[in-house]
Amino acid sequence: MANRINLNGTSFHGAGAITEIVNEAQAHGFQKAFVCSDPDLVKFNVTSKVTDLLEKAGLAYQLYSDIKPNPTIDNVKHGVQAFKDSKADYIIAIGGGSSMDTAKAIGIIIANPEFEDVRSLEGTAPTKNPCVPIIAVPTTAGTAAEVTINYVITDVERKRKFVCVDPHDMPIIAVIDPEMMSSMPKGLTASTGMDALTHAIEGYTTKAAWEMTDMFHLEAIKLISASLRDAVENKKEGREGMALGQYIAGMGFSNVGLGIAHSMAHTLGAVYDTPHGVACAMMLPIVMEYNQDCTGEKYREIARAMGVKGVDNMSVEEYRKAAIDAVRKLSVDVGIPTKLEAIKEKDLDFLAESAHADACAPGNPKDASVEDLKDLFRKIM
Ligand SMILES: NC(=O)c1ccc[n+]([C@@H]2O[C@H](COP(=O)([O-])OP(=O)(O)OC[C@H]3O[C@@H](n4cnc5c(N)ncnc54)[C@H](O)[C@@H]3O)[C@@H](O)[C@H]2O)c1
Ligand SMILES: [Fe+2]
Repeated sequence: MANRINLNGTSFHGAGAITEIVNEAQAHGFQKAFVCSDPDLVKFNVTSKVTDLLEKAGLAYQLYSDIKPNPTIDNVKHGVQAFKDSKADYIIAIGGGSSMDTAKAIGIIIANPEFEDVRSLEGTAPTKNPCVPIIAVPTTAGTAAEVTINYVITDVERKRKFVCVDPHDMPIIAVIDPEMMSSMPKGLTASTGMDALTHAIEGYTTKAAWEMTDMFHLEAIKLISASLRDAVENKKEGREGMALGQYIAGMGFSNVGLGIAHSMAHTLGAVYDTPHGVACAMMLPIVMEYNQDCTGEKYREIARAMGVKGVDNMSVEEYRKAAIDAVRKLSVDVGIPTKLEAIKEKDLDFLAESAHADACAPGNPKDASVEDLKDLFRKIM
């Protein structure tokens, strides 16, 4: 089968990049923006960095902010109604994965109303039309939803998050401005950054990985591990490295998928509302240990990209351990916890079965049984 690559059409990178939004909106002849953002970003004046520019340029917009972290089916359904009422003709998504994913789901349903129940979008739904044009402006350096063909929605009733994979949801323009990320507190910078590292490492070791995506993932691992500590300290170079590193990781994993660190993180997010990056960071070194015998030489390259010296003189056991240790050290250095107290023994059957059924599980380099997944969840209890 041929390898497919989907990337967003136009992206702007660097401090001050948000000024390009006005030029692009005018060049496309858009009339009114539906701005998707979350209530905290509105409260802390992050959203207004963009809406102020729209106002100054006399561009019409309507704000929609009924979006919670780990966004729900209801957030999407209310958004679809609000979009119809607004008479907007494009979307500007300003936020982390939650705002961007909600924007994608709204845009897809407006263009493909037969999927208005939202649940039917799970997996690779056969939508016919590209979504409403989206300009995506990430405010976290983690999900890379601005350049991925994925979005993730929480089904509160069934206690599960479901992944939707659809090239029709790709934002037409991505604006990656590190200054939009500088207001992130330390904990959020650390967890979203570890989400990005998880994308890069799972994408690099997933079954479908190939030369082109390896190139993106190795560069992303390098940038993220060199930048995350400084980003947590809110240093300019750290923010810039993370903004770019997470985007490059997205160019890769969106095209080849992930693995069981993500399956398990989706389940933890749905059941305990654990922030996505925290769940990924906790699972990543544990899953790397579990997968190691199915990864060939890849952990040598991960260790090298993370700055470990002397990897060419190491035995297989040594370089695999070095890669896992480097990930664990980065996670501890940026303050990520290693245990999740919310998990109870009685929940393990549901957690493991749900992670086993997740769309990311088949891409894992080693096929994990429900029992294996239960054992892996036990390691963070
Ligand atoms: N589409 C994809 O490819 C993809 C990939 C990975 C994860 N996801 C999904 O994305 C969601 C997680 O997104 P996220 O980790 O970016 O976080 P998020 O969007 O859920 O935001 C988390 C919190 O951080 C706050 N925040 C965001 N930016 C901020 C800033 N600059 N300053 C201060 N506060 C800020 C938000 O207001 C919110 O309260 C999950 O639902 C996850 O499953 C999607
Ligand atoms: Fe993720």
